Order: sequence, then C-alpha cells, then structure tokens
Amino acid sequence: MERRIAVLPGDGIGQEIVPEAVKVLQAIGQRFGHTFEWKYSDIGGQAIDRIGFPLPQETLDLAKHSDAVLLGAVGGPKWEGLEYERRPERALLGLREALGLFANLRPAKLHSDLADASTLKREVIEGIDILVVRELIGGIYFGKPKGIEPTATGHRGVNTEVYTTEEITRIAHVAFQAARKRRRLVTSVDKANVLESSELWRRVVTEVHGSYPEVELRHMYVDNCAMQLIRNPKQFDVVVTTNLFGDILSDEAAMLTGSIGMLPSASVGSKVGMYEPIHGSAPDIAGKDLANPIGMIASGAMMLAYSFDLVKEAELIERAIQRVLGQGYRTKDIEGPGTIPVGTKQMGALIVQQVQENN
Ligand code: IPM
Ligand code: MG
Repeated sequence: MERRIAVLPGDGIGQEIVPEAVKVLQAIGQRFGHTFEWKYSDIGGQAIDRIGFPLPQETLDLAKHSDAVLLGAVGGPKWEGLEYERRPERALLGLREALGLFANLRPAKLHSDLADASTLKREVIEGIDILVVRELIGGIYFGKPKGIEPTATGHRGVNTEVYTTEEITRIAHVAFQAARKRRRLVTSVDKANVLESSELWRRVVTEVHGSYPEVELRHMYVDNCAMQLIRNPKQFDVVVTTNLFGDILSDEAAMLTGSIGMLPSASVGSKVGMYEPIHGSAPDIAGKDLANPIGMIASGAMMLAYSFDLVKEAELIERAIQRVLGQGYRTKDIEGPGTIPVGTKQMGALIVQQVQENN
C-alpha cells in the first residue's frame, strides 16, 4: 500500500512527539511492506511567525490532497495576545471545518499498568473503556452571531450554540455504529433541561436510535455526566455529545486513564481523516524531552485503522505501547514508584523496537 500523509507538527511539544509517531509508522511500513510518503507543512504559531497567519493556504491544500493528516499541537503563550482570527487555534478549527471532519473519536481506555498513575482509586477506573464521540464542526465553536461589540457602557461578547437536524443526525449515526462494534450502549450528553439546542439534540438522537434497536440509548445532562465520569466511569461505553461538551468531557475522561498525554483522537467525516492527540502544545515542558509521545503514537495507530483500514498494523502499535508500559518505562507524567523514567525520544525508540521485534 502507498499512502501520502500530511505531517503538521505545529507548536511546543508537537515538534517532539510527531517525529516519534513518524518513526513508529515507518517501522510499520517496513515490516508490512507499505510505503508512506511524508509531506511536512507549517501550522499554528509556527506559521504565524513565518507568514503572519496560522493556516497557510499551502497547508490547507496539502491536507486536502493527502490521504490523511497527522497533527501534533498548536498554540502557546507567545501568540495569546493576538486577535482571534490570527490565533494558532483558529488553524485547527479551520482545518477541521475545511476537511468536513464532523466526528471526533476520543477513546479513553485504561492500560492496566497505569491504574496507579491516575488520581482516582484503582477499583473505580480498572477496566474502563470509553469512546467519546464529539461533534466537531458545529455548536458554539462555529455558531453565528459571534463576536465582541461595543455597547454604551462597555462591550458585549456573543457566541451561539446552534445545531440542525442534519448535524445531529450524522453524529448520532457515528455513535450508534461505533457502539454496535463495542458494548452497545450510547450515552447522549446534553443540557436539555435548559437549552433549546439540546432539546433538539435529544429529540433527534432518539429518532436516529430507532434504526439501532440492538443498541441501548441513555440520555444524561452534562453536569451529571461530569460527576458520573468520576463517580462510576465504568457505566459508559460510547458517549456522544456536542462540540463544547465533548471538548470538556474528553479532557476529564483522559485523566481517568492516568494522563492527558495518553489519549489519541481521530477526526473523520469525509475523504481525509485527521489524527492528533487530545492534549495541547504544553509550552511549559516543550523542548525538554519530557513530553509523553504515546497519545501521538496511538493517533498514528488510529490513522492506520480508520483511514487505511490497516487494522492489524494498528493493533501491533497498541500492543507495542502496552508492552513498553508493562516493562515499567514511563515518561514523567505517568511515573510512579518503581517505574523506569524515560524521555520522549527513548519512549518512542522503545515502541519502535517492539514494533520491529514483536508480534
Ligand atoms: C481540543 C483542543 C482544541 C479544541 C483547541 C486547541 C482549539 O482543546 O482539540 O480538544 O477546543 O477543540
Ligand atoms: Mg480540548
């Protein structure tokens, strides 16, 4: 198989973790006889520094004409003062929107060796396996009207939470179809006791559920969900929710697994999928070989499975990660008593070695 991959390392630790994922994917290519062509481009703060704009046209074109996009992270304190349209984060939103990536899949699964790295008790988190299905190109992130306007006495800041039947229908299908391959339970999270957009969300998800009688559907308010994720996370299989609620709840779900550095994501919905860890650019640890590359590497595995249908290759990467953790190697964010401290590069090299030598 031959595939062209747009590689956008971006800012902060993105520059350190992306090369590790590329090395792991190269090792997969060598072992299974696939050719991956890597095409690099700038995004986020890097692009701002070079051309004054976070999402260069050439990056957008490259992404559109690739088979998949591998992205590190964007953002950092250096660019925080800029107006919204020029901030690094806009590049991410722009790319998601331009590629039509309406579904963001964020699996939160606990590696049993990491149970003690979580701030929660082992018995609460052992065995959790949650898939957050986050709507990605609608809701308050994109709704209009938006902006800050002057008033007689100050200013007025506006954003709009808006969802249409079509937007809810397509993300609901993604959730139910994913649940069919899992434990067949979908929890739809909304705020239907207060928001009209959520009332519609609940109504449409319930309608779509009609086509999936083998899957159980539960509805939950977002505040209760935030609580239940910590109280009893094992009650969840697939969680489907809006853009903003999904952003918040997936960070919370990540911490159940020990570290936000562990969680990968896949953004899908049209021809070109995009794969990125759920964490940010972590400027506080950038450039120090401290970052955990596992979320990034696991995002590469999701790319193989979702974009290229290379499922056994993806599973080999997941097993490689498991084995390296099983041997006790840990980056700083997941270290514990008796574990072996390693940096970003060594963690990557250990996973590469497993991919090359094991089954
Ligand atoms: C995420 C991030 C982004 C988001 C930011 C960086 C724009 O937090 O992917 O979860 O809010 O979607
Ligand atoms: Mg987020």
